[in-house]
Amino acid sequence: MRNHRNERRASSRSWDAVAGWYAGWVGKDGSRHHRLLAIPALLDLVQLRAGESLLDIGCGPGVLAPAVAAAGARYTGVDLSPKLIAIARRHHAGSGRFVVADATRLAEVPGLETGGFDAAAFLLSLQDIDPLDAAIASAALMLRPSGRLAILMTHPCFRVPRQSGWGWDEKRALRFRRVDRYLTPLAVPMQDYGGGRSGTTRSYHRPLSAYAAALHASGLVIDAMQEIAGGGMNGAHLSKAERLAEAEIPLFLALRAIKRSGAPVVTGWRR
Ligand SMILES: C[S@@+](CC[C@H](N)C(=O)[O-])C[C@H]1O[C@@H](n2cnc3c(N)ncnc32)[C@H](O)[C@@H]1O
Repeated sequence: MRNHRNERRASSRSWDAVAGWYAGWVGKDGSRHHRLLAIPALLDLVQLRAGESLLDIGCGPGVLAPAVAAAGARYTGVDLSPKLIAIARRHHAGSGRFVVADATRLAEVPGLETGGFDAAAFLLSLQDIDPLDAAIASAALMLRPSGRLAILMTHPCFRVPRQSGWGWDEKRALRFRRVDRYLTPLAVPMQDYGGGRSGTTRSYHRPLSAYAAALHASGLVIDAMQEIAGGGMNGAHLSKAERLAEAEIPLFLALRAIKRSGAPVVTGWRR
């Protein structure tokens, strides 16, 4: 209980202070990770059809918008940062609309219709949004019955900010992943953006069970999951041991959950 109270005391903040750095770093079309891994995996899960609508929650500079528009779907991006929304409009106004909004209170935003979206997505944003339960409940409210929620995040079991990393086992000539902390939710200040000059954001680590419980509590049923390795990205520069480790230990976790129309079938899920 103590840990969850601590997590609830923190609350997510806009990325305004690092907006220029972040938008420059990912670029107009997204970083290599976005283009080669994250966006294709998210689109694969969400299976958009022409004419459908998608809400991109924590959209930042809007790198998902062109792919959604290319699928013939209607795109709405929301983010707490007015600066990132301004950049998104500058780069991608032709692909959809962008709205400044708090992901944990979407039902209060004029122009966003509750139950009005076929799909919603958190693309590398849910781990920067707090509290988790409110963000998931808010996303669920915006979906129509049977609507899909897709979540793409760094894998919470292996990529715990500041509490995990690569190690080298000399005897076995083996690259391994160490995880120092996992079950305790953490609000981790991320201060190394732009050489530490531009600002601080927070990343929120939660164990996998917290995501499953939050989805269940909001009437969302997980029906698909992908664990995505990042190794293919820099293969040419890696040693054999590094390649093996990168191929085995996933970088991203992608989940799809469907909005249930009736009451929960199973009760008693616990954190
Ligand atoms: C790592 S960035 C990801 C942005 C974008 N999805 C991408 O992949 O480039 C995380 C984003 O979450 C946004 N964010 C954090 N808390 C938020 C909240 N409560 N409501 C809306 N957006 C939030 C930040 O402003 C930031 O743009």
